[in-house]
Amino acid sequence: MNRRTFLALPLATLAQAPPRDPWVPTPYAEVERILDAVQLQVGERHLELGSGDGRICAAAARRRARSVGVEFDHGRVLASQRPGYTIVEADFWTMDWSTFDILTTGDISDDLRPLVLERFRITAKNGARLALGHALLTVRGLEVFVQTDETRLRR
Ligand SMILES: C[S@@+](CC[C@H](N)C(=O)[O-])C[C@H]1O[C@@H](n2cnc3c(N)ncnc32)[C@H](O)[C@@H]1O
Repeated sequence: MNRRTFLALPLATLAQAPPRDPWVPTPYAEVERILDAVQLQVGERHLELGSGDGRICAAAARRRARSVGVEFDHGRVLASQRPGYTIVEADFWTMDWSTFDILTTGDISDDLRPLVLERFRITAKNGARLALGHALLTVRGLEVFVQTDETRLRR
């Protein structure tokens, strides 16, 4: 956006613009539900898209998965480094998703959900599973599941 275009935007539009990167970590109980939803198995390759403080990678590592987090915030990358999993400082859109068995996002904004889902469908390997958000939507290959506390429904 050039300066002229920016200045032409109504102030109300700018005031309503959502923050680009609100960091809302996933509650720990939800972390376990996410990993249950994708049925993470020992030795599987896990990728956390936007790993924040690394809590989902840590939980995946406790389940003895081979977990990688990708995070573009330098401070969060430094603060989340722990033995047992790997945190890569990068933009997750630039990464190859095709070598992973399980992909998770933890908390994710509504506008990113369809983009992540589409990228997953195009590039993930056969049999890969995706937990998009707080275990509400789980994808295995091209099958989409909606999960609530009590039910697991095939869409
Ligand atoms: C809402 S937080 C969630 C953190 C963690 N996944 C969780 O659920 O606790 C989203 C995180 O994704 C990171 N992020 C957003 N877009 C990213 C991108 N394109 N590449 C890498 N990291 C990204 C942000 O810096 C932030 O730490």
